[in-house]
Amino acid sequence: MIKLLSLLALLWVYMAVVGATHTADLSRKSFPKGFLFGTATSAYQVEGMASKGGRGPSIWDEFIKTPGAYFSFFKHLLEDINLMVNLNFDAYRFSISWSRIFPNGTGKVNRKGVAYYNRLINYMLRKGITPYANLNHYDLPLALENKYLGWLSHDVVKDYADYAEFCFKTFGDRVKNWMTFNEPRVVAALGYDNGFFAPGRCSKAYGNCTAGNSATEPYIVTHNLILSHAAAVQRYRQKYQEKQKGRIGILLDFVWYEPLTRSKADNYAAQRARDFHVGWFLHPLVYGEYPKTMQNIVKDRLPKFTKEEVKMVKGSFDLIGINQYTTYYMYDPHTSPPKDLGYQADWNVGFAYERKGVPIGPRTKLYEEDILCVQAYSNWLYNVPWGLHKAIMYIKERYGNPTVILAENGMDDPGNLTMSKALHDTTRINYYKGYLAALKQSVDEGANVVGYFAWSLLDNFEWRIGYTSRFGIVYVDFKTLKRTPKMSAYWFKKILRKNK
Ligand SMILES: *[C@@H]1O[C@H](CO)[C@@H](O)[C@H](O)[C@H]1NC(C)=O
Ligand SMILES: *[C@@H]1O[C@H](CO)[C@@H](O)[C@H](O)[C@H]1NC(C)=O
Ligand SMILES: *[C@@H]1O[C@H](CO)[C@@H](O)[C@H](O)[C@H]1NC(C)=O
Repeated sequence: MIKLLSLLALLWVYMAVVGATHTADLSRKSFPKGFLFGTATSAYQVEGMASKGGRGPSIWDEFIKTPGAYFSFFKHLLEDINLMVNLNFDAYRFSISWSRIFPNGTGKVNRKGVAYYNRLINYMLRKGITPYANLNHYDLPLALENKYLGWLSHDVVKDYADYAEFCFKTFGDRVKNWMTFNEPRVVAALGYDNGFFAPGRCSKAYGNCTAGNSATEPYIVTHNLILSHAAAVQRYRQKYQEKQKGRIGILLDFVWYEPLTRSKADNYAAQRARDFHVGWFLHPLVYGEYPKTMQNIVKDRLPKFTKEEVKMVKGSFDLIGINQYTTYYMYDPHTSPPKDLGYQADWNVGFAYERKGVPIGPRTKLYEEDILCVQAYSNWLYNVPWGLHKAIMYIKERYGNPTVILAENGMDDPGNLTMSKALHDTTRINYYKGYLAALKQSVDEGANVVGYFAWSLLDNFEWRIGYTSRFGIVYVDFKTLKRTPKMSAYWFKKILRKNK
């Protein structure tokens, strides 16, 4: 019986793979030599042991106020790296928890935390998995929030740079790919414009927050995040890079914004959206100032870089990570912005998800138990591969064709899907197939993309929505923590096969 079942499962994998390869015969060989494939996770979402091993709390522990019962990568460390090897991946993008290294953000080092990351890095290297270490994935030490309101204070720049330098000094003999921040825009927008993420600050008009100012705080926070990034890069370049021979960059989220119609107004709306989204960070990093559209709209609420800061910020990257999942239509609402000022309100755009009745891409509103081939669970996630191509080409054309890694990409299923259904994730395979084909097209057209990271290796803890969503290519039983590769994991294993 078992044999018959596994035979059926194999047949299923075979049919899904064969059935879906007609669009493009994708494999490792579709990409340039040396192109890396990896998976990504973040510390808070997979590590567990939130209040153990000497770790100090981060603003997320305070924000969601649930005990640190997350499942523990700690205990599955070696197993999970073996899994990556078995699935033919080359690299792993993980994040370091600042408060596991410095429980209070600064000062005393937690040696147990250092030992944990050493163990992780050493085992990856032993197994031939290239580490991509990200220094911060939303999880600011709570002590710094309490001390000076965290990212709102310029004081964070030095503390962050000290933490980053400690990591370069301690792990940089082995880690050659550093990222300073993951999705700093999400920190500023969700943390300070609508309060949906930690530390949950916003104006009354834009969310249920007890404190905050959506008109100013997102911009102040981003300014300090950019300066923190640049200060860390400066330390790396001045003291470590030459000897350690690594590279450093930042990870930016980017939704592609397509004008809804060909009107000038909708084109301008889409451009505003791109500038307020990825341009907010990438423009200063490449050109030393915020996009002109933002300067004109936000005016004196937008901080300015001093001459000295411009020198530090401009050119402060060796590579850029782009996290890309979805695409929306943009239109000009032909109304004035609302009188309550705020970051999202400043865009003054309308979002649309269909054009003349045709959805921009597949999505399901309600998950229906009996339908296997549904799309992503997250309601923001439309499957639009051509948007990835446009996003990558936009970065290439507008920002001088930087070295890019596609650093996150994937889709989720509902958390309570039965295991057998979760394992048969043909929809996810089709999602990856479409996006990888679009990425290949971008590379073929000259975009300097050098790697691809699927989000995520494991089903994990999805921030505010907790365990209700599963982004993994490997199924995790949230009770026993047992890992079971899904069909999409076997699909990756097949296309990433290396020639012996
Ligand atoms: C962190 O700060 C608290 C309060 O000041 C102190 O009691 C604790 O010892 C500090 N922990 C470390 C590891 O420095
Ligand atoms: C707003 O927040 C308060 C306190 O955190 C909570 O009790 C209340 O239910 C929230 N209201 C809404 C509409 O979410
Ligand atoms: C699964 O979770 C969703 C909400 O995330 C809920 O609407 C649905 O009823 C749940 N289904 C089952 C079978 O528990």
